[in-house]
Amino acid sequence: MNPAIHFQHVSKTYRGARGTFQALTDVSFDIQPGEFFGLLGPNGAGKTTLISILAGLARATEGRVTVMGHDVVADYAAARKSLGIVPQELVFDPFFSVRESLRIQSGYFGVKGNDAWIDELLAGLGLADKAGANMRQLSGGMKRRVLVAQALVHRPPVIVLDEPTAGVDVELRQTLWSFIARLNKEGHTVLLTTHYLEEAEALCGRIAMLKQGRVVALERTSALLAGTASTMLRFKTDDALPAELAAQARVTGRIAQIKAHDAAEVESVLARLRAAGVRVEDLEIGRADLEDVFLDIMQGRSTSVVSTESAAAVEVA
Ligand SMILES: Nc1ncnc2c1ncn2[C@@H]1O[C@H](COP(=O)(O)OP(=O)(O)O)[C@@H](O)[C@H]1O
Ligand SMILES: [Mg+2]
Repeated sequence: MNPAIHFQHVSKTYRGARGTFQALTDVSFDIQPGEFFGLLGPNGAGKTTLISILAGLARATEGRVTVMGHDVVADYAAARKSLGIVPQELVFDPFFSVRESLRIQSGYFGVKGNDAWIDELLAGLGLADKAGANMRQLSGGMKRRVLVAQALVHRPPVIVLDEPTAGVDVELRQTLWSFIARLNKEGHTVLLTTHYLEEAEALCGRIAMLKQGRVVALERTSALLAGTASTMLRFKTDDALPAELAAQARVTGRIAQIKAHDAAEVESVLARLRAAGVRVEDLEIGRADLEDVFLDIMQGRSTSVVSTESAAAVEVA
């Protein structure tokens, strides 16, 4: 069986007036049909570039990409028809109503008599009462829902979402994820990029991490989590941490998180906090999460983890 998405030695160099920039270097991995796959990486890592190449909007400088077995360059129309892409940027035509824009998009893919599916999309995405509204009247979150509906109008087997929840409210996230999870259960392949690592942890069976255009992790989500230091101390404080603890802590406002591999390390961290006179509130000891794994890999505290299983899958492809 063909992989749903196949990236083979993909490199991308942007050339402009101010010189050249290598955005992707030798990216190779496959996503199998039915997977819910996460593509993670900091801003500028190359996620949108990789998706643009997949969508046929940008050309790889080297390498080959297929969608459901169709080459995105040589067999563009078939590859594009297999894909539903929700772009990172909000792009829309202000002159049409929601329903009109979905009908136009259906026509673009040569799908006729699509109103039953359009109604299902509107209902599933919480847009039913906005069907007649003009696109320019919608809030940002509502426009985002329409973009998702537009991407799905031709029932593509492969759904690609490029930071679909950046800056959107909790309600939209929940609507979106329950709908996308349903489509994934029904057999659609999903490729997701997101900055919300708790979303990736909850949704994605497998994850690739990009750093400066290279794949630095490719693993099952469970294996990524299992491979990390297993405990994390979390607490609130108004005091500054001593320097050597601050260097290894993840601080968000008043909340500090410090990794501790075992009970002895937990004791040692607490002793150092006490010695430094740091007042600690709401202390808890929890499991490390995907954000810890991500930060370890991105900051080079953990060596790259590309599972032999995933690597083998790429070799035989
Ligand atoms: N059209 C372009 N021309 C030149 N450089 C670009 C272009 N598009 C993206 N880049 C650069 O490529 C890098 C990767 O960008 P992008 O793929 O958008 O990353 P991400 O989506 O992971 O944030 C960034 O440094 C960005 O500035
Ligand atoms: Mg991007």
